Amino acid sequence: MKIYIADYSGFCFGVKRAVGILENMVKNGEEAYTLGPIIHNPQVVEYFTQKGIKPIELNDLDSERKRNVVIRTHGIEPGLEKLLKDKVINVIDATCPFVKRVHKIAEEISKKGLMLIIIGEKDHPEVIGIKGHCFGKCVVVENKSEAEKVDNFDKAAVVVQTTQTQENVDKIMEILNQKGEIVEFYNTRCDATAKRQDAAKKLAKMVDVMLVIGGKNSANTNKLAVICEKEGARVYHIETAEEIKKDWFKETDKVGITAGASTPDWIIKEVVNKMEEIAKQFDENHETEIRKGL
Ligand code: F3S
Repeated sequence: MKIYIADYSGFCFGVKRAVGILENMVKNGEEAYTLGPIIHNPQVVEYFTQKGIKPIELNDLDSERKRNVVIRTHGIEPGLEKLLKDKVINVIDATCPFVKRVHKIAEEISKKGLMLIIIGEKDHPEVIGIKGHCFGKCVVVENKSEAEKVDNFDKAAVVVQTTQTQENVDKIMEILNQKGEIVEFYNTRCDATAKRQDAAKKLAKMVDVMLVIGGKNSANTNKLAVICEKEGARVYHIETAEEIKKDWFKETDKVGITAGASTPDWIIKEVVNKMEEIAKQFDENHETEIRKGL
C-alpha cells in the first residue's frame, strides 16, 4: 500500500498565527477566553481548554468582567468588537490578516455606495463578520441557485469568503454577470486554501481512498472532502486516527491524506502512523511508501 500526503495539508498561516498567540499566553501563565472556538477543530479547542484558555459565547460576557478575550481567526463585525472592548479588559485580536483585508475592502465598497455581494456561507462566522463591515446594501450568495434568486442590479462589487472553491465562485459569477454590472471583483479566496484544494484534488485523482482530516464543523475541511469525492476517490472525513477502520482499505493500493487548515500536525502524524500499522497488517513484508506531495 502506498500512502501519500497532499501538499499544504494542515495549519495555514492564519491558524498558525492564532494558535501561536494562545501558546504564548499559556507560556506566560495567562488565563484567557476565546469568543467561540478559536478554530474549528475540537481537539485543538480541548487542548487549550485544558491549559486554561476556554471558548465562551457572547452571553457569558455579562456575568463578570473578563480579563483576556481573544477574537478568533474568522474575525467579527465592528459592533461586536466595540461591545467586547466595553466589557473586557484586554481584547486580543487573532483575526487572520487575510480576513482583515476583506473587511477593509467591504468598508471601501460601502463608502463608494456600491452594493456588496459576498460569495460565501451565510451562517459562517467569517461571512457574518464581513457583512458587519458593510454599511450599505449587502447580499450573501452561497451557491448557483441562490445566485439565480438575486434581484437584477445596476452596479455591484463582489468579495469571496476565503475558503470558497474556485469552481463555486465561477458558477456564481457567471450568473451574477447576467444580473447587472459587476464593477469590482475581489477574488479574496485565500492562497493557502487555493493551494490546499488544488493539491488535494490532484492527489484524489490518483488514489483509491482519501482520508480528509479535520473538524466535522470545519467549512474548509468539508469542502476538501467534496472536492476529493468529485475526483472519484472514496472519501472518509475523520477528526482523529481512532476513527479509521481497517475494512476501509481492503484491496486498496493507494491512500491519500489531506487535512484542513485547522488540523494540527500531531493529528496528521497519528493518522499516518495508524495507516502504516494498517498497511503492515495487510502485508507484513510490504514496505509502506510515504510521500509528501506527488
Ligand atoms: Fe487565513 Fe487563509 Fe487560513 S484566510 S485563516 S490563511 S485559510
